Amino acid sequence: MNSIKIAPSILSADFSRLGEEVVALERAGADYVHIDIMDGMFVPNISLGAPVVKSIRGKSNLIFDVHLMIENPERYIEDFVKAGADIIVVHVEATKHLHRVIQLIKSYGVKVGVSLNPATPVEVLKYIIDDLDMVLVMSVNPGFGGQTFISSSLKKIREIRLLSSEIDIEVDGGITDETVKACIEAGANIFVAGSYIFSGDYCERIKSLRWRDE
Ligand code: DX5
Ligand code: ZN
Repeated sequence: MNSIKIAPSILSADFSRLGEEVVALERAGADYVHIDIMDGMFVPNISLGAPVVKSIRGKSNLIFDVHLMIENPERYIEDFVKAGADIIVVHVEATKHLHRVIQLIKSYGVKVGVSLNPATPVEVLKYIIDDLDMVLVMSVNPGFGGQTFISSSLKKIREIRLLSSEIDIEVDGGITDETVKACIEAGANIFVAGSYIFSGDYCERIKSLRWRDE
């Protein structure tokens, strides 16, 4: 069974002190730093770009998990590799040539993940899952923090776990100490949390998400 990993989303961090926030997350026991990149096209919101990722790279040894919510992500893979990404996640819905983007990411020697929006069925993974390190299940519609967990995500997690017993399954959106439990039972092992972690004591909140490991 894959170990549980907690990936705080810095979308909910204080952007004026981003470097310090990343240091605080590492001290609080986070495993990954989840970085949400939004282009105002694939999702309605705009967040940050590769130069910001680069500027915080020196602050932390945590795994940088870069979630690209951008149209045609193939245009920017090299930029995010150079900025220090350890895992790059692209959306199935954002590119016409998913297989090619996956190979491009792998060619740089970084890990690769693919994300599914809430309405996207698991079947799209059939011919690519063997190439992936991770599948990211969006449990809210991407674009904003602080939304409510969509419960059909649990069925989706179960279906992905049936396709592969080894792959990392990450869940993103509406994760709290309540919603995380059913996600673990369904077979997920990496949990993104933004508003939940940043609205309390980082260390306690991270610990409260590690149900199975307690
Ligand atoms: C939403 C982002 C999430 C977001 C999660 O599009 O992908 O990573 O920060 O925020 P919460 O945990 O508040 O739902
Ligand atoms: Zn995200």
